[in-house]
Amino acid sequence: MPEYSFKLNGEQVTVNVPGNVRLLWVLRDILGVTGPKYGCGLGVCQACTSHINGKAVNICSVPVEQLKPNDEVVTIEGLPATVGKDLHPMQEAWLKHDVAQCGYCQPGQIMAAVAHVNKARKGPGREIDDDDMDNIRNICRCGTYQRIRAAIKDGAENMPRGSRPNP
Ligand code: FES
Ligand code: FES
Repeated sequence: MPEYSFKLNGEQVTVNVPGNVRLLWVLRDILGVTGPKYGCGLGVCQACTSHINGKAVNICSVPVEQLKPNDEVVTIEGLPATVGKDLHPMQEAWLKHDVAQCGYCQPGQIMAAVAHVNKARKGPGREIDDDDMDNIRNICRCGTYQRIRAAIKDGAENMPRGSRPNP
């Protein structure tokens, strides 16, 4: 069985698995990291959103063989460590705005939000705005979209500038 290695939430991990197994299943079934959720398996719902090298990625669509040893995968479990706190500012904003309903989509929503805020701020003086948030396509079947937007604006204000969502 081939061996694949990558960084997961700040630690080097190695798995023995066929190369075409998607990263979502490697994390959930082999490594026991269940924050990223399975919704469609087709790159549509984005419940599985996690970060690879700082970018929001639908990891249900990533064969594990595409990862290299230096690639950094961060899931909702590892997000607080990227800012050295018990909770990331975006998670605190989520709690403040009482965003979650059933909660299933929420890890993916938060991971997408953090990556989009970091991307939006690449230009000097840029703040997250409605156009940026229009690019977040994560589906919420409970319809929490208005609270998600309020929380993203709030969380963005408290995110350290220039922070990268990887340890
Ligand atoms: S489970 Fe990955 S996009 Fe739906
Ligand atoms: S909170 Fe239920 S799917 Fe989003």
